[in-house]
Amino acid sequence: MLHTYESYQIKNLHLKNRLVMAPMCMYRSDISGQAKDFHRIHYGTRAFGGTGLIIQEATAVTANGRISGRDLGLWEDRQTPGLASIVSQIHEGGAKAGIQLAHAGRKCTVAEEQIVAPSSLACDEESRLPHELSQAEIAEVVLAFSDAARRAAEAGYDVLEIHAAHGYLIHEFLSPLSNQRTDEYGGPLENRLRFLQEIITAVRQVWPTGQVLLIRLSATDYLPGGLDIQETVRMVDQIKNQVDLIHLSSGGLLTVPFRTYPGYQVGFAETVRSKCQVPTIAVGLISCLEQVEDILGNGRADLVALGRELLRHPYWPLNNRCTDQDEGCPVPEPYKRAFS
Ligand SMILES: Cc1cc2nc3c(=O)[nH]c(=O)nc-3n(C[C@H](O)[C@H](O)[C@H](O)COP(=O)(O)O)c2cc1C
Repeated sequence: MLHTYESYQIKNLHLKNRLVMAPMCMYRSDISGQAKDFHRIHYGTRAFGGTGLIIQEATAVTANGRISGRDLGLWEDRQTPGLASIVSQIHEGGAKAGIQLAHAGRKCTVAEEQIVAPSSLACDEESRLPHELSQAEIAEVVLAFSDAARRAAEAGYDVLEIHAAHGYLIHEFLSPLSNQRTDEYGGPLENRLRFLQEIITAVRQVWPTGQVLLIRLSATDYLPGGLDIQETVRMVDQIKNQVDLIHLSSGGLLTVPFRTYPGYQVGFAETVRSKCQVPTIAVGLISCLEQVEDILGNGRADLVALGRELLRHPYWPLNNRCTDQDEGCPVPEPYKRAFS
């Protein structure tokens, strides 16, 4: 039996296998932030392809929290039914549905929107200078996350991921390179973590208790003075009682060259898993079954996310299974003649 196709239970979430589709922005909505046929087809196809958990792309909690004018959004009630139709499609394909809730912070490129950040520091020379959030405005963003989480529960998502990575608003609070505040949201780690902790607490109040809440973090900024894996471990130690899984990515705060190679971020998932004793998801240039088996078989992570590989090969899980793996990756009834 391959580890890849073993089931996984955490809280009331039962996954048929260990494969996760990483959240990937498709920029295929429009200014309404509503789901389109593209999204139903795109996510439904990966579900029919055998992936256990699909984490939908970054979905904005406010209009100025979008990266682009074509992001999916969940900042108003009328966006809920469209997203519920993506969930139905994913469930129809036999997978569990996750949503990634996000605020782009200073990386919002929508011309009409005011961009915001913990401090008024642009991410590069081409970007606009962000407005520094006041404490009252921080409270509004926290509320926007919990309102979006309530809508996500109404839409039927099984899993909620808070996007705290890749240089977006929450990561901007976490990293000392982008957070130069002198109030209780800046300075020592405990203060930089406050915004994320407030979001987690607010989301927990509306997200059903038995359902999984996970956090995606950038384990390092790859820059001196920025976040590194040691600080990430300390951060996870402080939030782990409130969250169920940690999804370890890296980078994205500032443009900086770093070396990527197959599995380049797996060490972060492994370190956090062993040091903090929390379940983790590994991601990053993972594309073959041997890699997934190594990660799971050696206890380096609990789940493995594939990103671009699933854009190239939506049926990867079905195509890599062995014939005796019907439970971990059942062939959809209409496709059975192709797999017998
Ligand atoms: C087209 C594309 C869009 C992405 N959008 C998101 C996103 O919405 N949220 C996120 O956390 N990461 C996003 N990422 C990063 C992926 O989730 C993943 O971490 C990264 O691609 C590395 O995994 P891979 O090598 O398997 O593709 C995106 C990546 C790609 C290629």
